[in-house]
Amino acid sequence: MDYDFFKRKFAWLTGFDLDSYKDKQMERRIQQFIRRMEIDSYDSYYKLLESSDQEKIRFLNFLTINQTSFFRDLLVFKNIKNNVLPEILDRKKARIKIWSAGCSNGAETYSLSILMFELIGNGTQPYRYCIVATDIDSQVLKQAELGLFPVNLLDNVSKKSREKYFFPVGDKLQIKPEIKKRVIFRQHDLLKDEYEDNCDLILCRNVFIYFKPETQQKLLAKFMEALNPRGYFITGSSEYVSSYHQWGLEKKHMAIYQKVK
Ligand SMILES: C[S@@+](CC[C@H](N)C(=O)[O-])C[C@H]1O[C@@H](n2cnc3c(N)ncnc32)[C@H](O)[C@@H]1O
Repeated sequence: MDYDFFKRKFAWLTGFDLDSYKDKQMERRIQQFIRRMEIDSYDSYYKLLESSDQEKIRFLNFLTINQTSFFRDLLVFKNIKNNVLPEILDRKKARIKIWSAGCSNGAETYSLSILMFELIGNGTQPYRYCIVATDIDSQVLKQAELGLFPVNLLDNVSKKSREKYFFPVGDKLQIKPEIKKRVIFRQHDLLKDEYEDNCDLILCRNVFIYFKPETQQKLLAKFMEALNPRGYFITGSSEYVSSYHQWGLEKKHMAIYQKVK
C-alpha cells in the first residue's frame, strides 16, 4: 500500500480527509510516527488501525498539530485589542459573535475572552457577545473545557494578568470562571461540518498552513459566507489570504482582514 492508497482507506475507516492536507508534510509525519512503533509498512499499520479503536484515536490525535499559546503573536493581539474589538463594539451593541476556528486547547480563545473582559467588563448582558471555539480534536477540546494550562503557555501574559485571570492548581494555572463562561467549545471539522453564521470576527490561525492551496480556497469561501459585512477575518502571522480583494476583504494590519463588500 502506498501513501495515496493509505489516505483513501483511512478516510473510509475514520472519515478523516487526509487528502485535503499538504501531502509531503503529512506523509513525513505519518512515516515518522509509524517508524517509531517499529512498523515497516502502511499495510501493517492499517491492519492495526482496523483492529483497535484506541489506536485510531491515538493516531487521529497525533495528526492534528495542536501547538498554541496565550496571545500568540503579540502584535496581532495588540491590533485586535486596540483596533478590531473597539471598532466592533462601537458599531454593534448586541449579539456580537466571535468564532475561534481550530482553537486547539483554548489558549487563543481565552486570550480573546480576556481582551473582551478588559474592554467591557463582566457586567455586560449575556446577549452582548459570545465566543464560539471549535476544533476537530476531541482531546484538546477536553483540555480547553478544563482550562488548566502549564505556565510555559503563558509567557505572553503579565504577572498582573496571571493573578487577575487565573488561579494556581498545583504547578499549573486555571482560567477563572468569569473568562470561561463567555466561551462555548464545540467539536467541528472545517472540511466537512456546517460553518457558523453571522460572525463579526473569525480567527482561523495556524490552521490553513496544513491544508493544500485548493482546500484553503474552499474553506475561505465558507468562512466568507460565515462573516458579517464589516466583519474581520484573522489568520496566523505566517499565513496570508491570497487575492483577498476577490473575497471583498481589505487588509487592515498584519494577518487582519476586514470584509468591506
Ligand atoms: C497549530 S493549532 C492552532 C491553534 C490556534 N489557532 C493558534 O494559532 O494558536 C491547529 C489546530 O487546527 C486543528 N485542526 C486541524 N485540522 C482541522 C480540521 N479539519 N477542522 C478543525 N480543526 C482542525 C488542530 O486540531 C489544531 O488544534
